[in-house]
Amino acid sequence: MAVNPSGPAAAYDRVRSSPREVREFWLPAAGLETGLEPGTRILDVGCGTGRLSVPLAARCSVVGLDRSREMLEGARGKGSPAAFVLGDAGRFPFRDRTFDVALAVMVLHLLPDFRAGVREIARCAVRVVIATIDMEARTKHAIDEAFPSFHGIDEARFPRIPALIDACRDAGWTRVEVRPAHRRVESSTPEFLDRVRSRYVSTLALLPPGEFERGLAWLEGELPRRGERYAYDHTVTFVAASR
Ligand SMILES: C[S@@+](CC[C@H](N)C(=O)[O-])C[C@H]1O[C@@H](n2cnc3c(N)ncnc32)[C@H](O)[C@@H]1O
Repeated sequence: MAVNPSGPAAAYDRVRSSPREVREFWLPAAGLETGLEPGTRILDVGCGTGRLSVPLAARCSVVGLDRSREMLEGARGKGSPAAFVLGDAGRFPFRDRTFDVALAVMVLHLLPDFRAGVREIARCAVRVVIATIDMEARTKHAIDEAFPSFHGIDEARFPRIPALIDACRDAGWTRVEVRPAHRRVESSTPEFLDRVRSRYVSTLALLPPGEFERGLAWLEGELPRRGERYAYDHTVTFVAASR
C-alpha cells in the first residue's frame, strides 16, 4: 500500500527522515552500521515510518512496533521485509528474550513512564540502544528565540541521562554506555521554515495557545534576513545497555 501523500506518515518522512541522514548519522551513531550478524532479531520500539527498521531489515530480522496506525501504514508502504506491529511500548505482545537487540530512537520521552518502558524492553531483548536528547547539553538556536516555551517543554519530557542509566541497571543490564553524537543540521532557510510549519518535532504541538503562530511569523520574517541557509548544532545521546 502506498503512503498517503497528505497523511502524517508522509509529513514525518518529509521533515524528519532522509534516508541519507539515516545512513550517514543515525545508523553509525547507534553502532548499527556494522557488526550485526545477518539474521540478528531486532525490535524497533516506536518505529514510526520505519526509517531505521527498513534499512536494517536488509540484513536482519526486524519487527517494528508503534502505537500509531498512520505511521505503521507509512512503514508498511515501503515494501520492506520488516514486520510492523501495532502495539504499546508499555506492554509488548512478545515472549521474554524474543529479540537480540531493541532500539528505542526518540521514543522514551513520549511514554508516560519511561522506566516501565525500559523494564518491558529488558524483558523482551538481550540488549538495547536508546537514542534521546540530553537536555543538560542541548544547544539552543533560533527555534528557542521563536518559541520561548520550547526548551522547558522538552526538559519536562526527556529523561535525565543519569535516571536513564539507573533505569537500565534496575532493569537488569549491567553494562551501560553513554555516547553523545554531534551533528550539524543544515538546509536552505525555506526548507527549515517548511519543517517548522509541519511541526517537525512534537514539541511544536505542545506550545501554549498562540505561541506557535507568533513564533512562526517571527521566524518567517527573521531567518531570510539572516541568510539563505539555516544551520544548528544537534546532539543525540545514545545509551547502549547489555548484560
Ligand atoms: C519521534 S517518533 C520516532 C520514530 C522512529 N523511532 C524514528 O526515529 O524515526 C516517535 C514514535 O513513537 C511512537 N510512540 C509514542 N508513544 C508510543 C507508545 N506508548 N508505544 C508505541 N509507540 C509509541 C509514535 O507513534 C511515533 O511514531
